[in-house]
Amino acid sequence: MKKVLVTGGLGFIGSHTAVELLAKGYEVVLADNLANTRPDVLDGIERIAGKRPEWVNVDLADQQQCGEFLAAHPDFDGIIHFAAFKAVGESVDKPLDYYQNNLGSLCLLLQYLRGRPECAFIFSSSCTVYGQADELPVSEGAPVKPAESPYGNTKQIGEEIIRDGVAAHGFKAIALRYFNPIGAHPTAAIGELPLGVPQNLVPFITQSAAGLRGALKVFGNDYPTSDGTAVRDYIHVVDLAQAHIVAMERMIDGRTAEDFEVFNLGTGQGSTVLEVIKAFERATEQKIDWDFAPRRAGDVIAAYADTKRAAEVLGWRASRSLEEAMGDAWRWQQSLGESDSSGATGGK
Ligand code: WQD
Repeated sequence: MKKVLVTGGLGFIGSHTAVELLAKGYEVVLADNLANTRPDVLDGIERIAGKRPEWVNVDLADQQQCGEFLAAHPDFDGIIHFAAFKAVGESVDKPLDYYQNNLGSLCLLLQYLRGRPECAFIFSSSCTVYGQADELPVSEGAPVKPAESPYGNTKQIGEEIIRDGVAAHGFKAIALRYFNPIGAHPTAAIGELPLGVPQNLVPFITQSAAGLRGALKVFGNDYPTSDGTAVRDYIHVVDLAQAHIVAMERMIDGRTAEDFEVFNLGTGQGSTVLEVIKAFERATEQKIDWDFAPRRAGDVIAAYADTKRAAEVLGWRASRSLEEAMGDAWRWQQSLGESDSSGATGGK
């Protein structure tokens, strides 16, 4: 049985990836220091998978803790690295924490690969590396633009660190540049757990619909788009999780064309904010109370993925619709119960 480390494994995308790995018979080890999640996510993973993966509470940016943890696991066949701080706005206020945490942990994990180059490495990157792309849909060849935030910069620098590590030490890696991950597991046992006021659109919508937040503010109605609101490529988190397994198995099976490969992960479909609201209302028969507000600093006008490379080279394509994601997100929100918006595990 092959053994896979999922860092940030109790987080939003990490927990959904853990479920998919367990379903495929992998031995899964989760590393998570609960910086941005809750321990009972593990119960949700177990409820879906029927088995409880090992979880280690370790700060991967701490040299001693990370070193001891990795020394105790000399036999990983794959590492899927999600663990990072990821709040764009917060990164502007705390850039040094973001660089130290996100890049320090990455370097320590890459040092492990020097001693185990056969271990496949997947890096959680982001479409934010493109900024406002000059051409849409956005392909992997689009120029990486100066980051709009320290968070985005940690993804850009992270890819460069990996590229240099691959060139110097001969291990392999794949960076997956996500567009906008949304939704939850259809069982409603795991989902997104934004701590505090959600910065992202979909969790704000579900909390507003649940009566936990006031009216949704739609940031900007004067963009050059079909209805004046900004366009994004919203991809179901289960589609995203499955893409990670496909990419990891590509490396494990020795099918990579280069030692460092990059893939955009999106649906290829752009949706405006108003279209997302309508999709939610159709999927859930809930009415969303919203009003326009000024544009949010740092937002791009439009971003949606060119899915050709992922389809033709990776052999993967998203299959779940925006409406399906809205329904799954709503069932997850309902499972969290009324009081606790920062979420115990759902699935009650
Ligand atoms: C989507 C659209 C907002 C909230 C971010 C990160 C990106 C990735 C995904 C980590 C925008 C609008 C939002 C609200 C709104 N995260 N909006 N009212 O900014 O595209 O991407 O999350 O990898 O790196 O940058 O996602 O969900 O915040 O915003 O109108 O209350 O919804 O202006 O147009 P974003 P988002």
